[in-house]
Amino acid sequence: MCGIVAYIGQEQAFPIVLKGLKRLEYRGYDSAGIALLENGEIKNYKRQGKVAELESFTDNQDTEGTVGIGHTRWATHGLPNDINAHPHTSGNGDIALIHNGIIENYDILKEGLLSRGHKFESETDTEVLVHLIQDIKDHEKVSTAEAVRLALNNVIGAYAIVVLSKDNPDQLIAARKSSPLVVGIGKKGDYYLASDATPIVEYTNEVVYLEDEEIAIVERNKGLRLYNIQNQEKTPYIQELELQLEALEKGGYEHFMLKEIHEQPHSIQDCFRGRLNVDTGWVGLGGIKDYEKQLASANRIIMVACGTSWHAALVGEYLFEDLARVPVEVEYASEFRYRNPIIDEGDIVIAISQSGETADTLAALELAKSKGATILGICNVVGSSISRITHAGSYTHAGPEIGVASTKAFTAQVTVLTLMALAIARNKGSLNEAKFRRIITELELIPEKVSKILESSDYIEELSKEYKDASNALYLGRGNSFPVALEGALKLKEISYIHAEGYPAAEMKHGPIALIDEEMPVFVIATKGTSYEKVVSNIQEVKARKGKVVAIVTEGDTQVKGMADHVIEIPNTDEHLSPLLTTIPFQLISYYIAVMRGCNVDQPRNLAKSVTVE
Ligand code: F6R
Repeated sequence: MCGIVAYIGQEQAFPIVLKGLKRLEYRGYDSAGIALLENGEIKNYKRQGKVAELESFTDNQDTEGTVGIGHTRWATHGLPNDINAHPHTSGNGDIALIHNGIIENYDILKEGLLSRGHKFESETDTEVLVHLIQDIKDHEKVSTAEAVRLALNNVIGAYAIVVLSKDNPDQLIAARKSSPLVVGIGKKGDYYLASDATPIVEYTNEVVYLEDEEIAIVERNKGLRLYNIQNQEKTPYIQELELQLEALEKGGYEHFMLKEIHEQPHSIQDCFRGRLNVDTGWVGLGGIKDYEKQLASANRIIMVACGTSWHAALVGEYLFEDLARVPVEVEYASEFRYRNPIIDEGDIVIAISQSGETADTLAALELAKSKGATILGICNVVGSSISRITHAGSYTHAGPEIGVASTKAFTAQVTVLTLMALAIARNKGSLNEAKFRRIITELELIPEKVSKILESSDYIEELSKEYKDASNALYLGRGNSFPVALEGALKLKEISYIHAEGYPAAEMKHGPIALIDEEMPVFVIATKGTSYEKVVSNIQEVKARKGKVVAIVTEGDTQVKGMADHVIEIPNTDEHLSPLLTTIPFQLISYYIAVMRGCNVDQPRNLAKSVTVE
């Protein structure tokens, strides 16, 4: 949610910052802006819309300068227009600032500043912060860095900021609280700052992830200094990035989303690599090894997450309860954190998050930690905030997910949850050997079965044409297919803007059936398993009301074929693993329908990846 990037060094800052903004654009694309400092002057270019708009706007402008800060915005306070775009400058134009997060007490701060004669151009909370810094600097007669520190002590809310100041052209000041910020240490005494490592990896693999309430000062020829907000100096902990540059490119695909859908055979395999041995009948996750016993004997496990990750948690609930016989509650992180939940010291709270930065999930974890619970994380982004505040956790190893709609992260999360459930079940003895062996043997075959489904892409594209003009759609599934139905509906609505709902198939007759007519596509998961016959009855109920049925069935199924308008056959697998397969056709259907409707698949309207605000 909002991407920030900055550079200071010997090179021209503009192309580096611009390229960085393109890499971070998935975090927000309401506006973009870059401020450069050269010959004692700050040049500030900003434009509503995508980074490409800013690029053409700056085409013939003076973009010289070896220090610069840039921002791509997901609007929170104020419309997405040129004026509200970042960077924001102080009243006298001496300081420029970029910000990701929300200053919650900005209105009180603004009142004070207005009474002291400050004038504001924009409606943003960020402009208030830059004015506050200038105000403190002028009145307290302190350096910009000290003014930043003092200002942040007055701020309530979340921030990752980078500050550029006319009086020190060799310095950038950065700070974070709840919103992520990474410092890249260049090879020639240059520094890169960004919301995540994607704009940095091209230049260096040495990074420092800022902790909450840390302030970094990077100075040309002097290096990096780190302080906490109380002004105590800290030693930077330099880490090595494992990210590969190619993972950030489209690799010949038209969209990141399509590339990421097609990466799933590999990403699922990467996820269980080294964690599964079919020959010896072993499953283990190094990150949570020390917690296996505790998980096996837990009175209760609470999974907290948002969006797609919440759907993965629902699949996890089925797996943990059925295989490991541990009670699980799945909570929306945003609800959990505000309803005074009952948490005992014996509880284990597992957060699931692709980005590892989702504000609500992070806050839910902090709450659980403060009440004495053990907190674990399942994250994709290495070094993310959630992965750092948890007691332990497992990475999903899906590789960078750039498309805003989550695809490969979901299947990787479900894979980790499956491995965890199996490891706990093994520890607890809740699963007999034959069943355990059968499931792990099937799990190892999932990547090739996903590849097989992907081979039907042309057929799925063809059938999607018939539903591209729908205004509504229903997704139905039972058991562990219910979360997949929810996920299918979310994918369709977020990228094609078709209203879609997911339901447990049996719930249809308690209301949603009233919506069914010949215009309404109903996507049903009707694979072989415990509820197969029941789902077949649900399909008949839809057909009796002239609804259009697209059913995902197990290869060789003839019963549903005779009833549905379209069937998509997928390979057979153990029922516990079916979400890893049934979700793939839904991802493809959403993708193709969105493309046919002319939607921006990778950057759907109003959305952003990594929701770092509440
Ligand atoms: C949907 C989607 C979102 C995220 C949600 C949580 O395609 O991507 O619903 O799943 O914002 O994000 P993470 O997993 O980063 O916590």
